Amino acid sequence: MPLSFPLLGDRVLLRPFETADAPAAHAIYGDDEVMRFVGEGGAVSPEETARMVEDYRRHQDEHGFACWAVMDRGTGELIGDAGLEVTGHGVELGYTLSRRWWGRGLATEAASLCWEAAFGPLGMPQVVALVDADNPASARVVEKLGFTDQGRTMAYGRPHHRFELGTYQPVTIGDPPFWSS
Ligand SMILES: CC(C)(COP(=O)(O)OP(=O)(O)OC[C@H]1O[C@@H](n2cnc3c(N)ncnc32)[C@H](O)[C@@H]1OP(=O)(O)O)[C@@H](O)C(=O)NCCC(=O)NCCS
Repeated sequence: MPLSFPLLGDRVLLRPFETADAPAAHAIYGDDEVMRFVGEGGAVSPEETARMVEDYRRHQDEHGFACWAVMDRGTGELIGDAGLEVTGHGVELGYTLSRRWWGRGLATEAASLCWEAAFGPLGMPQVVALVDADNPASARVVEKLGFTDQGRTMAYGRPHHRFELGTYQPVTIGDPPFWSS
C-alpha cells in the first residue's frame, strides 16, 4: 500500500526530501561529528549534500520509500533524516540527526515511524540496520525497536554490526539450541 505523508510522530514528522532542503540538510551533513559513522564517514561538501538529496528524491520516486526528512513539529525545522533504502545489504534503516537534537529520544521516534511504515503499509518482510562497532547510541536505537544483532560484517569500509528485524527472525549462532530448555 502506498504511504501517505507526512508520517506523524508526537514530536517529529517524516516527509520526502525536497530540492529546497539541501541548504538545511548541509547544516547537518557538513558536521564531521554527525557524519563520523554515516556512509564512508566524515563531513560532505554542499555539492555532495545536494546530490544526496536528489538521490533520496529519485529513490522515493522509484520505490515509494526513501531516506526522509525529519522535521521538528514544534518549529518546522529540518533536524535530520530517517528512512529506508535499498542497498546491497537489503532494505536498510538509517537515521542522522543534527547534534543539537541528540539525547531526547527523537531518533528512536523517527526510526519507529520508519518501522511502522516498513512492516505496515509497505509490507516488508525484513529490515536491516548496519551500525558501526563504535556507535553504541545508534545500536541502542535499533535495539529499542526490537532489532537483534546478527554479528559483525564489513560495510562502507569499516566493521559494523548487522542488526535485523523481520517477520521471519533467523536464529543467531550462539543462541541456546531449541532442545536445551
Ligand atoms: C545515533 C543518533 C541518531 C541517536 O540519536 P538520539 O536522538 O540521540 O537517539 P535516542 O535519544 O532516540 O536514543 C539513543 C539511545 O542511546 C543511548 N546512548 C547514547 N549514547 C550512548 C553511548 N555512548 N553508549 C551507550 N548508549 C548510548 C541513549 O541513552 C539512548 O538510550 P535510552 O533511551 O535507553 O537511554 C545520533 O546520535 C546521531 O544522529 N548520530 C550521528 C549519525 C549516526 O551515527 N547515525 C547512525 C548511523 S548507523
